[in-house]
Amino acid sequence: MSAYPFEPFRIKVVEPIKRTSREERERSIAAAGYNLFKVRAEDCTVDLLTDSGTGAMSDTQWSAIMHGDESYAGARSFYTLKQSVEDVTGLPYFVPTHQGRAAENILFRVTVKPGQSVPSNQHFDTTHANIRARGGKPVDLVIAEAAEPAKQHPFKGNMDIARLERFIDTVGANNIPVGMTTITNNSAGGQPVSMENLRATADVYHRHQIPFFIDAARFAENAYFIQQREAGYAGKSIEAIVREQFSYADGFTMSAKKDAIVNIGGLLAMRDADLFERVKNELILREGFPTYGGLAGRDLEALAVGLREGMDQDYLAYRVAQTAYLGDRLREAGIPIVEPPGGHAIYIDARSLLPHIPQAQFPAQALSVALYVAGGIRTVEIGSVMFAYPDPDTGAMLYPTTELVRLAIPRRVYTQAHLDYVATTCIHVNEQRDSIRGLKIIHEPLLLRHFTAEFELV
Ligand code: F0G
Repeated sequence: MSAYPFEPFRIKVVEPIKRTSREERERSIAAAGYNLFKVRAEDCTVDLLTDSGTGAMSDTQWSAIMHGDESYAGARSFYTLKQSVEDVTGLPYFVPTHQGRAAENILFRVTVKPGQSVPSNQHFDTTHANIRARGGKPVDLVIAEAAEPAKQHPFKGNMDIARLERFIDTVGANNIPVGMTTITNNSAGGQPVSMENLRATADVYHRHQIPFFIDAARFAENAYFIQQREAGYAGKSIEAIVREQFSYADGFTMSAKKDAIVNIGGLLAMRDADLFERVKNELILREGFPTYGGLAGRDLEALAVGLREGMDQDYLAYRVAQTAYLGDRLREAGIPIVEPPGGHAIYIDARSLLPHIPQAQFPAQALSVALYVAGGIRTVEIGSVMFAYPDPDTGAMLYPTTELVRLAIPRRVYTQAHLDYVATTCIHVNEQRDSIRGLKIIHEPLLLRHFTAEFELV
């Protein structure tokens, strides 16, 4: 089992955790329509819904907040952030946005026309939905290994380069306004993308004059995996690896709520000056003036610090080992997880765990409900609730290949004892898995239904 390194920080501020009984949780989840997004956070014992915006900021970040310049235009905080973005990524132009999906919205509004395709290794839900909202087609071209949860692969988030080539040949480069890759690949296990693969992806896009944008939410965890697993990178600093990752891209979208460890914030960066002009106009319409985007000056300050802190070698070693530790405990108990453990989360393979529940009855959602009832663990479904949708041509339901429950670990928030409690709860649920029932949707919106859909037990 992976050693659990001690947390490389001391705890200065604490937040109490409320205790709830099983009966109270049964009532809460039924009242929430069996949708964990609708449960009150204070009714969760360990909240692993997401690692997004849930991290604990450092004393340095909190003190930077007091330096926030709240001027409408040209705030000092913007220039502090600009320096940080340039140092960390090397990209010359950027705008702050209120979070990652706002960056995606702006990028796709200025680039995607109806009917056009945006390939990636695998788009996350908001990226997927923002492309569809423009009439575009999100296309996932990740390597085949990603669809096999038990398969070991050091860079399971890699783009399938041959498939990408074939895809571009089939639809034509002029129908692809932008090409992407997500680091790490959140949708299939927080799996990293190798430097070699980033380089090859960039090569293919560039040969076809397609601008290459990285979805860089977990840029630092990806760099850490490259350092640990890819030949030639063991002696390099995280800072140098991060710079190299970005050197292949024409731009990036970033939810800064992940590796940049802020509670709110995002970035949209690029090299092209003309695109930057169009982006700024769209930003002013939707987010705010280009020197603050959708953020307050103090948020820009916290982000400027967080971008650098997220690359700390000791912190990343602890972070990735913490995730692996939880994975080891579940694996040892015979719970099928996505292998190998990724950066920010452990993903339980609900299809293997609950073979008696068909995809149309949402096995991963059913498992996440069971984990909540058993121990107040809040997780998120990454399966058919999130990703199944009707084929626009035939109306037939298109199901994703995997049904996963993600246990996302907030940064610098939970200790080893919390993760042991999580593991014990998972083991208890696994022992009673035959009694878990499927779910039926009784209400759903048009896009991103997992946030607000309601269910009943089958
Ligand atoms: N891209 C990736 C890879 C993400 O994981 C997310 C968010 C986004 C973009 C959108 O960013 O939330 O700041 O608007 N993922 C969160 C999650 C919500 O739980 O994984 P956002």
